[in-house]
Amino acid sequence: MSRERSNVQAPVHELIATRWSSRAFDDKRPVEPEKMVSCLEAARWTPSCYNDQPWRFLVTDRFHDRGSWGKLLACLSPGNRTWACRAPLLLLTCAAGSFTHNGRSNRWGAYDTGQAAMSLCLQATALGLATHQMGGFDAERVREAFTIPAGFEPMSVIALGYPGDAVVLDGELRRREQAPRRRKSLEEIAFLEVWGRGVTPPAWVGKRTVEKSLSGP
Ligand SMILES: Cc1cc2nc3c(=O)[nH]c(=O)nc-3n(C[C@H](O)[C@H](O)[C@H](O)COP(=O)(O)O)c2cc1C
Repeated sequence: MSRERSNVQAPVHELIATRWSSRAFDDKRPVEPEKMVSCLEAARWTPSCYNDQPWRFLVTDRFHDRGSWGKLLACLSPGNRTWACRAPLLLLTCAAGSFTHNGRSNRWGAYDTGQAAMSLCLQATALGLATHQMGGFDAERVREAFTIPAGFEPMSVIALGYPGDAVVLDGELRRREQAPRRRKSLEEIAFLEVWGRGVTPPAWVGKRTVEKSLSGP
């Protein structure tokens, strides 16, 4: 993935600019167990409310146990299945609904689990791996298929593997794979002091490159 597909309004770290949700995976190349564990380790060090660490990950690896991998694949929506079937790893993320220390409802469980998923994805990017998070799956089917305990909510499935060639994708999927990444503008999502007063980057910021941001000001 080239950073040219990310039209940043201000310099960002290369990892941020180059992570993206790939649909093309190399289905012949397994992910080394040490890389998979590094991704999980990155997730483990995510901050969380009360340090509750509400996230759980269930890893399935097509090269290790095709049965469990296939079971998770079968829970995906048909559209996701068409490309996720080439990802050697499918990871289910779950979030605890209540705090460990007092049993009260944890309304930040999903927030924290999302952060952990992003840490995992960034570590994967740093290791040359491609990731794609999916909300399009049957949560009840997953719960049953993997006996997810009550108190944990299936949140997403993450496809993970080495990047593949977009030529394996047909038509619309290939077009999306190669299209520029789109985002709302900074002004639309970040406000200065007053709700709705968009943050605008200083004029010079846009002229700096991603590379420059890596070596500091
Ligand atoms: C919680 C969540 C659920 C998502 N669900 C799906 C999905 O079911 N299918 C899909 O193709 N992409 C899914 N995506 C990927 C988003 O579409 C993608 O992140 C977004 O279009 C931005 O693209 P980028 O990640 O390449 O920057 C999901 C992403 C997140 C974070």
